[in-house]
Amino acid sequence: MADRPVAEELLALALDVAAEAGDLLVRGRAGDVAAESTKSSPTDVVTALDRASEELVARRLREARPDDGILGEEGADAAGTSGVRWIVDPIDGTVNFLYNLPNWAVSIAAEIDGEVVAGVVHAPALGRTYTALRAGGAALDGRPLRVSAVDSLTMALVATGFGYTVERRTAQVAVLTRVVPRVRDIRRMGAASLDLCAVAAGTLDAYYERGLKPWDHAAGGLVATEAGAVVGGLDGAPGGEDLYVAASPAIFGPLVDLLAQDPRADRD
Ligand code: IPD
Repeated sequence: MADRPVAEELLALALDVAAEAGDLLVRGRAGDVAAESTKSSPTDVVTALDRASEELVARRLREARPDDGILGEEGADAAGTSGVRWIVDPIDGTVNFLYNLPNWAVSIAAEIDGEVVAGVVHAPALGRTYTALRAGGAALDGRPLRVSAVDSLTMALVATGFGYTVERRTAQVAVLTRVVPRVRDIRRMGAASLDLCAVAAGTLDAYYERGLKPWDHAAGGLVATEAGAVVGGLDGAPGGEDLYVAASPAIFGPLVDLLAQDPRADRD
């Protein structure tokens, strides 16, 4: 377990840097935004602002803490020697950003010795900044967060997301057809980090997705955990690329059981 003062320092730095990246993106969004290139599929876009945001975050973190490692969605990858590693999504919700929908965020998490200890999910277009410290709680703009008290899956509002490849999306839609009749309703809002923060705030009861990368869930996962969500994957595994679930405690087990019943949940 990290000692608190270090984690608090990391959180303060992450907050400053996320605010700077957010300002850059809001200014950039006022001009033309176009997909510059694609990654896993033609719809998996990268804008020049994804790259500019990651460059700014990486540079600011390196200036402040030159010995730390960093992993970023747009390619930053350095091991570091301090035991601290930053995990950065310079724009989570890139498609929303491209379409000028407000649900996008800069997500920055700090790990110490492989454990996420601090996280910031900064959503300038929503005017919201979520923060969390391991064993120190989660907050929205400084106000403490708590998950919902929902007690049955049938009453749960559940979010999910879809990957970018046709194969993954086809499998995900097949799983979804089993979920939809068993929950209150489904939402697909387009930014995993913000879905996790919404679970933390009780504005969603649960979120699940297959295929997430560390930068999608590192900061938001800590926000959800610290607000009382149960976070994990299939068969008692930690949440990861195979499956990532965050839910209010009473519905975590039933939701994972429902997802595990479908052989397509772990195939694509
Ligand atoms: C994506 C978003 C989306 C989720 C995808 C992610 P990106 O991240 O979080 O909600 O469904 O799986 O890849 O590409 O916008 O950074």
